[in-house]
Amino acid sequence: MPHADRNLAPAVDADRGVIQERASTMQDRLIVGLDVPTLKDAEKVVRELDGVVSFYKIGYQLAFAGGLDLARELASGGTRIFLDMKLLDIDNTVAKGVEAIARMGMTMLTMHAYPKTMKAAVAAARGSDLCLLGVTVLTSMDEQDLIDAGYEHDPHTLVLRRSEQALHAGMGGIVCSAEEAEAVRRIVGPNMAVVTPGIRPRGSDHGDQKRVVTPAQAIRNGSSHLVVGRPIVGAADRRAVAEAILDEMRSA
Ligand code: C5P
Repeated sequence: MPHADRNLAPAVDADRGVIQERASTMQDRLIVGLDVPTLKDAEKVVRELDGVVSFYKIGYQLAFAGGLDLARELASGGTRIFLDMKLLDIDNTVAKGVEAIARMGMTMLTMHAYPKTMKAAVAAARGSDLCLLGVTVLTSMDEQDLIDAGYEHDPHTLVLRRSEQALHAGMGGIVCSAEEAEAVRRIVGPNMAVVTPGIRPRGSDHGDQKRVVTPAQAIRNGSSHLVVGRPIVGAADRRAVAEAILDEMRSA
């Protein structure tokens, strides 16, 4: 358990000027992916998980179905929102986007971990509470998928290289597979967030995720935050599944 005694109190890294999004309870470390098609569906999930979950991830699907207004509303009520926009564009466009998102009161924002993009984003987020996360390699990608996309590195090598680049760019954290969290933690040190999707409680369907890990193992590997979508959102009893995942995280 390399990071069980890590100080998880919220803090600003004064040297780098970037907010380190840290959590004090297990509940703060579970992020539920609101990957649903309509606002009505999203509101139902949030209602059902009230008191159990306090951190949601909003991605493309919901963002373009009115989810940005919901994100603002939830954030203004104290719920934390991870906006999963996986930004990548010319530096100026990324910087302007980051400035606008920082003004929305979001807690976390993703971008692909390209060095230039990350540097532009870090400069734009300076002075705000926004924790910028670099997406290393999507957890649905395996070696063949990377070769098909023209990369020469295997997923693990690319994850480590991009983690180092994120550290040097001054990012607040990394998104990677929980399988890689331990190696990433060794590179980025104790202060950066290591946010891991691809979480599957034992016996649940993997869907399109190729590099999956159980909630307990993810915590043991040094993940600061777990992102769980379908296992909770697709469950008949969402509350019970979320509580079971939290129990498993605590047991680790
Ligand atoms: O349903 P599931 O638990 O697989 O959801 C995982 C969530 O995390 C999805 O919203 C997916 O887009 C996101 N994600 C991921 N891999 C990354 C970054 C984000 O699966 N590297």
